[in-house]
Amino acid sequence: MNQHIRNFSIIAHIDHGKTTLTDRFLRLTKTVSALDFQERMMDSNPIERERGITIKLAPVRMMYTFEGQEYQLNLIDTPGHVDFGYEVSRSLAACEGVLLVVDATQGIQAQTLTNYEKALEQGLIIIPVINKIDLPAADVEMVTLECMEAFGVNEQDIIAVSAKTGVNIEALLHAVIEKIPPPQGNSEKPLKALVITSQFDMHRGAIAYVRVVDGELTKEKLHLMSSNVTFMPIELGIFTPQQTLIKSLNAGEVGFVATGLKENNLLKVGDTLTTVEAAKEISLLPGYKEPIPMVFMELYPIDGADFAILVDSMSKLTLHDAALQSSSTHSSALGNGLRVGFLGILHAEIVLERLEREFDLDLIATAPSVTYELQLMNGETKTIHTPAEMPDPSYIKQMSEPVTQTIIFTPEEYVSTIIQLVRDRRGELLDNTFIGKRARLAFKMPLSEIITDFHDTLKSASSGFASLEYIITGYEEVDAVKVTIFLNHEAVEPLSFISVRGKAEQDARAIVTKLKEVIPRHLFEVPIQAALGGSIIARETIKAFRKDVTAKLYGGDVTRRMKLLNKQAKGKKKMKQLGKVELNQEAFLAVLKR
Ligand code: GTP
Repeated sequence: MNQHIRNFSIIAHIDHGKTTLTDRFLRLTKTVSALDFQERMMDSNPIERERGITIKLAPVRMMYTFEGQEYQLNLIDTPGHVDFGYEVSRSLAACEGVLLVVDATQGIQAQTLTNYEKALEQGLIIIPVINKIDLPAADVEMVTLECMEAFGVNEQDIIAVSAKTGVNIEALLHAVIEKIPPPQGNSEKPLKALVITSQFDMHRGAIAYVRVVDGELTKEKLHLMSSNVTFMPIELGIFTPQQTLIKSLNAGEVGFVATGLKENNLLKVGDTLTTVEAAKEISLLPGYKEPIPMVFMELYPIDGADFAILVDSMSKLTLHDAALQSSSTHSSALGNGLRVGFLGILHAEIVLERLEREFDLDLIATAPSVTYELQLMNGETKTIHTPAEMPDPSYIKQMSEPVTQTIIFTPEEYVSTIIQLVRDRRGELLDNTFIGKRARLAFKMPLSEIITDFHDTLKSASSGFASLEYIITGYEEVDAVKVTIFLNHEAVEPLSFISVRGKAEQDARAIVTKLKEVIPRHLFEVPIQAALGGSIIARETIKAFRKDVTAKLYGGDVTRRMKLLNKQAKGKKKMKQLGKVELNQEAFLAVLKR
């Protein structure tokens, strides 16, 4: 049976067409009937569908007959964005080959290269695919040359398709069968399965997505080796793409096990699943490196009474998203809140959107900050996640910040602009190579500079053409200081920020000016000040003002007047009271867009 299984993944730069190609395969193999078909079948989360991005890996089993033989094709849809890069590694560990998709109008991008390197490292068969050949702007010839140069392949190894119109999709499935080897496992051996990701269900508990390496997985007592937990599975199944129950999963197959475990932390992604008896004789599978949250934000409910709902909602989200971390925090200005760790800015945006939409919470989120490692004068070390946690400078001996290796891929005409842009952000060029008419620039750059709006700045500096990918390589010493913002003479910790000493004054001026623009006027004057240590390094004043919304309705009818006043009151609900001053979310974003 093994001989007729193929496990593969589609990897690509964001938006190059993975999901559309998957949809195409689902229809071609009749896994989903035309009647049941809806676009982006594999994106289960409404935000994934709306934004058109894949967040979580999703497997599907397709049956397909080629030259009279039926094959089981297990496809794992993977996310494209850097924040979810660890999901790509997980998908790859469950496959023997990949389709590496490149957009015919965009060519190779930063993530194409990093994904290619990941697949190569794992020894997978790589089939290069050029997609979107139906578009008038497609330059198949140029992109073919790029692929030949970047991946060291011949022209005939590359398959040009249109996921949209279906051109050449059948040929692609044939290539999967012919070029990607069947899984190596042996059904006769003791059970060994890799947990590739997890999900949580209120009734069935933690659900493990697994790839069976050896043996046969049936509904008997099972054991998770690293967590050292034994359980009786509630269900076994495969993805079609809905969860469909089956009796057993064999070596080489991909499916799921509903564990019934109600504590999600018992099911660790990357763990080895086996039977109670086999646990003594088999060794652990290599597993994965856990993603570490690097970007932190504080979230405060606008209405302090919603704090319990916030805590409850966050614990629900954490059940599905092991990369999320949160702990309680308190600000004298904003009340009780949560400090939450994310993998990156997109991850943060999605979580915030879910909290507001699915749990109906109105939140104030502070600007994101990276983690700093401090060596204190008394010999202790301390990790801080937000500016509020930074001790007085007299206690600090040395401070370190996370640094990245950043790869930017760009058409050659933007190279000098980008190098300058990166230098302005304390980056250092490490390497510059060309693939066709495009450059691959490698930089060393602090993470704090990337999370403050770097992606948008890079996109506008390169007319949208440059792409970016980064990995965190370690910590390096930095001479950083905390700038405290005062509103109406009161310190506002959630608006305060950490900056390198040489840039503190420039950053402070930019933020104070921005705050003046976004904080609404009050009935009294509101001074805004930025202080470094004891001295004020920037200041602005918001003039007093009374906005009489009903003035223009003088003599108008009472119901309209009431309606307008209600509307104004509703707008106010989105504001957070800080002493006498009211702040909206935009004020907190000012720190981000400095
Ligand atoms: P992420 O999941 O966010 O990484 O994106 P993706 O790689 O899955 O890309 P997706 O399938 O969402 O496609 C991105 C956009 O390109 C969508 O608007 C698709 O409709 C479009 N698209 C994909 N394939 C083709 C194609 O062959 N031709 C044309 N014209 N458009 C395509």
